[in-house]
Amino acid sequence: MGVADSPFIKACYGRNDGAIPVWIMRQAGRYLPEYRQVRSKVSFQELCRSPRLIAEVVRQPVERFGLDAAILFSDILTMLEPMGAKVSFPDGGPVIGQPISTPEDVERLHACDVRRDLAFVLAGIDEIKQRLPQTPLIGFAGSPFTLFCYLVEGKGSKTFDKAKIFLQRYPEAARQLIDLLTDAVAAYLNEQISAGADAVQLFDSWGGILAHDDYRRWSAEPAARIFATLKSRQVPRIFFVNNVAPYLDLVREIDCEVIGVDYRINLATAATALAGKSVQGNLDPTVLFSGPEVVAARTQDILRSLTRHDNLIFNLGHGILPETPLMSVETMIKTVKNFRS
Ligand code: CP3
Repeated sequence: MGVADSPFIKACYGRNDGAIPVWIMRQAGRYLPEYRQVRSKVSFQELCRSPRLIAEVVRQPVERFGLDAAILFSDILTMLEPMGAKVSFPDGGPVIGQPISTPEDVERLHACDVRRDLAFVLAGIDEIKQRLPQTPLIGFAGSPFTLFCYLVEGKGSKTFDKAKIFLQRYPEAARQLIDLLTDAVAAYLNEQISAGADAVQLFDSWGGILAHDDYRRWSAEPAARIFATLKSRQVPRIFFVNNVAPYLDLVREIDCEVIGVDYRINLATAATALAGKSVQGNLDPTVLFSGPEVVAARTQDILRSLTRHDNLIFNLGHGILPETPLMSVETMIKTVKNFRS
């Protein structure tokens, strides 16, 4: 059975007739002892730059749990370094040195040559495909607005006020930066597909803080432009929007195959509003900190609430947390695998 016939790829196109596919956002990470073992010897950035170690940590959760898709190991901020940003990953989250605070600062950033400057990512994809030839591999990038948030704020934030204020104060410079990021993400995802990615996911982790009209301009339209450049590549395009509920009317118009739905909204409500698009989600990652009965029941609640199962990819509604008990992950996956509609 080739990757094209896998439950994951079939579900992306709304024609899965078997068991429901499942993978986990941030599935290669610190909740896994074998990942922590690798990380005890190298820094996060060394790991991201080693094609051999990339393939190793990508394989870990796929083989431990029998997941239906693998995801490239990298970070959404990795592509910003060759564009002129100073990115580091101290404990406690990523930091951008000299964040963008004025229109002049935007001039410091520039396009990069993906094949030359991000060769280690593309080599990592090649290595993953050699080691996991049967497993669909998801390539990914951050959405332009999410990357913008980190570039302007300089670090993580709950509200990204600096980034939102920059949009209002300097709309022309913001447009210039979002356009640069849009072209860069499109080129990056194109090269990931050429290197062997079987699907791509755009992570809109922070678009969900925007007013509806700003979401259209600064997040939905750039995402649509990226997906348009990828259409001819004929791989499924997944748009994960963290806090998608206020923007379902906009997201539903975007030409892509799958919407990744966060944990806040009822998945069946989202699926109905998205009229025909495949959906991916959306168990709250903190539910995995309850007992096995609750994990199974909450997983079943999602599965049973949906009227269609041919276009469903089960996942968490955001990234898995570092302290998550492995038993709960097993319970969730077993519940999905055993479900029959
Ligand atoms: O299996 C996978 O999904 C791994 C690949 C992956 C990572 N980051 C590795 C990582 C992916 C897809 C990402 C995406 C990412 N990175 C997003 C979008 C997804 C989301 O959560 O909304 C964002 C916003 C980032 C930025 C980022 N990178 C943050 C906020 C952090 C710190 C969070 C934390 O858990 O410490 C990182 C670091 C990071 N990226 C880690 C991993 C495994 C932890 C680094 C470590 O090993 O110490």
